[in-house]
Amino acid sequence: MIVNRLETDKIRGIKAACACLFSEAAATNDQFLETLSVDMVKRAYRRNARVHHPDMKTGTDVKDVTSERFLAIQQSYEVLVNYLEDMNPANDAILSHGKIIAVGGAKGGIGKSVITANLGIYLASRGLKTVLVDLDLGGSNLHLYLGYRSILQSTINDFLKKRVNSLADVMIQSPHGPILVGGDSSELGSANIDFMKKMKLIKAINAIEADCVVLDLGGDTSYNILDFFLQADHGIVVTTRDSASYIGAYHFLKAAMYRKLNRLTGMESRAGEEKNTMLERYIRESTMSEDGHGAKTVNELVASIREDHPQYLSAVMKAVWGFNPYLVVNRVPHGIGPEEVAGKIQNVARRWLAREVKLLGGIGRHPDVERSAIDLVPAIIRYPRGAFATEIAAIANRLIKTV
Ligand SMILES: Nc1ncnc2c1ncn2[C@@H]1O[C@H](COP(=O)(O)OP(=O)(O)OP(=O)(O)O)[C@@H](O)[C@H]1O
Ligand SMILES: [Mg+2]
Repeated sequence: MIVNRLETDKIRGIKAACACLFSEAAATNDQFLETLSVDMVKRAYRRNARVHHPDMKTGTDVKDVTSERFLAIQQSYEVLVNYLEDMNPANDAILSHGKIIAVGGAKGGIGKSVITANLGIYLASRGLKTVLVDLDLGGSNLHLYLGYRSILQSTINDFLKKRVNSLADVMIQSPHGPILVGGDSSELGSANIDFMKKMKLIKAINAIEADCVVLDLGGDTSYNILDFFLQADHGIVVTTRDSASYIGAYHFLKAAMYRKLNRLTGMESRAGEEKNTMLERYIRESTMSEDGHGAKTVNELVASIREDHPQYLSAVMKAVWGFNPYLVVNRVPHGIGPEEVAGKIQNVARRWLAREVKLLGGIGRHPDVERSAIDLVPAIIRYPRGAFATEIAAIANRLIKTV
């Protein structure tokens, strides 16, 4: 029943996107969808964007209408490209624009570390130089999922506490393929890193020479975790079917988007924008009310920026569009599709964040995985042809260029 409603919502969204980028006639013609290609969508997007980009217009009234229309064009483009890529996953090649993948989610125990470890093993088995970094500084255990039984000889703490000069000095070649930068949260204070240490760590991670770098994050929405997530090229938010988990996943997405908007300028801005105190204050007041209520949706924020500070509209819209996290639904019970859980998060994200959050895949509930947490042999190694390994491979293959 729910799946049917989601399907209907999805189809309605796809038709609306066709009407926006092409025409009403195209939207009502079923054969049009069958012949639609990513190239056609890209061409239509460029055609529309040329006409409706806010920077192409002068005059406030015209600009207002234009930027609203441009936002709709952008969203329609994403809806259609996501739809076509889902139909033909071989088109996915996201690692062609960045190697750092962060695995996050707002709750503990939902499988972030299991997924990071096994994804890393799979990527390494495909011949990609893969580095896994345990950034769950207060609860490091990624090394266990890679088969290490005891505390590591050298960890990320040695780098943060300046006992070594570079992250390369604490890298360990793990037995199953990926290189590990492990953690040790038994060391007092390891979770509490200050701003300068965080920036140093982010810089060092960006400089790692590898094909893929996968970051295992802690299970909350603290600023440090959000910042690691936002600095990655690709963010994966893990959720399960539990209400607490998917509500947490949505809160994580919202917190990350608002953190991104609050770090649009200054040292932490990814685009290296010069600090702009006035814009920062404006966004802070719009997104972080004292009692946690009354924050604007992203569409409302865009509309008010357009009204009050049109000169910053492009920068804000660029930041919004640059926020493209993925979802992985873990421990999906037998007989249920990951789309059901993903659909709930996607609907709220669409309404509040004006973003299409793409489902990267689902992972079932597997006794093999539970066992691997006890005997410390990664499930993908023990059962390379098992259902879990197949699901991890499908997720990984949507992340890398299919050869
Ligand atoms: N698909 C699955 N099937 C069965 N068990 C699973 C699955 N995914 C994870 N688990 C189990 O859930 C437990 C928690 O997993 P994991 O440590 O990866 O969670 P986490 O999100 O990293 O938690 P934390 O934030 O506390 O680090 C592990 O014991 C693991 O074996
Ligand atoms: Mg973990």
